[in-house]
Amino acid sequence: MTASSSILASGNVAVLTGAGSGFGRELALLCAARGMKLVLADIQPDALEATIALLPADTAVLAMPCDVSQATAVMAMAEQTYANFGACHLLFNNAGVGGGGFSWQTTEDDWTWMLGVNLMGVVHGIRAFVPRMLESGQPAHVVNTASAAGLVSVPGSSVYCVSKHGVVTLSECLHHELRGENAAINVSVLCPAFVPTGIVESARNRPASLGKVNPSQADFAARTRKAIASGRLTAADIAQAVADAVAANRFYILPHERIKQGVQMRLQDILEDRQPTNTVPKKP
Ligand SMILES: NC(=O)c1ccc[n+]([C@@H]2O[C@H](COP(=O)([O-])OP(=O)(O)OC[C@H]3O[C@@H](n4cnc5c(N)ncnc54)[C@H](O)[C@@H]3O)[C@@H](O)[C@H]2O)c1
Repeated sequence: MTASSSILASGNVAVLTGAGSGFGRELALLCAARGMKLVLADIQPDALEATIALLPADTAVLAMPCDVSQATAVMAMAEQTYANFGACHLLFNNAGVGGGGFSWQTTEDDWTWMLGVNLMGVVHGIRAFVPRMLESGQPAHVVNTASAAGLVSVPGSSVYCVSKHGVVTLSECLHHELRGENAAINVSVLCPAFVPTGIVESARNRPASLGKVNPSQADFAARTRKAIASGRLTAADIAQAVADAVAANRFYILPHERIKQGVQMRLQDILEDRQPTNTVPKKP
């Protein structure tokens, strides 16, 4: 397996989705500080511009207003990346949206929107970039943003959990495939718990065409807002954790250590044929 210690190096190219806020913005700042060239994508053009305004003036940056749920948009981003910079060394498939509600009340629009952005956005990123990375033969690293909700099952978050469990297994499959091909591309999956970012305001980017929201969403959002506000790590801490994991070539990135207890309990439940334990605190 190729070491990834030189991926975040000056002159290398980083492609980051969801770069207008939160983790994407902080990792963009970190990569720029290392002298990397940046391709920054986000559905919200003003947020993208706000991130770019924070970068050192001499940063080579390509702004890509882009909805990652749309395959053609992500394919166009890959074409632009290679036309402008000729490579992609770090791909951060990170754009994501949150929402909740009882499973039986979720709407088809909830599923189309959240699976479209959180899961298909990552699928499109892999399909658009990995063939080009393989062809170039250069060392590269793909980091997919899942969540702690991709490792455990959170009541009131079925749509989000399904999307994020999908990202975890997709990342594991990709890892196995690339190892099997002896490729110079490594993979990591980011699984944080609550971190204060714009995630609780995700509805700001929900397309009007997918506007049918389940009736328990508002209750859930209020609880999530509290939990997110209580998060002790910052988005900058998460960006640093990603950089450290890429440098060390670690696959699972769990910045919140306590999540491992929930993972262990879930696996024990499965192995011992028990009913699933709810490891999420009732009152966040
Ligand atoms: N903040 C947390 O507590 C937390 C925890 C676990 C996982 N995550 C995941 O981290 C990732 C980043 O989220 P964040 O917390 O930084 O939230 P955020 O809202 O601050 O940033 C997400 C960015 O994605 C962009 N975006 C939304 N829909 C998009 C689309 N269709 N196409 C392109 N860009 C789009 C938004 O405009 C925003 O700039 C998400 O995948 C989220 O699910 C967040």
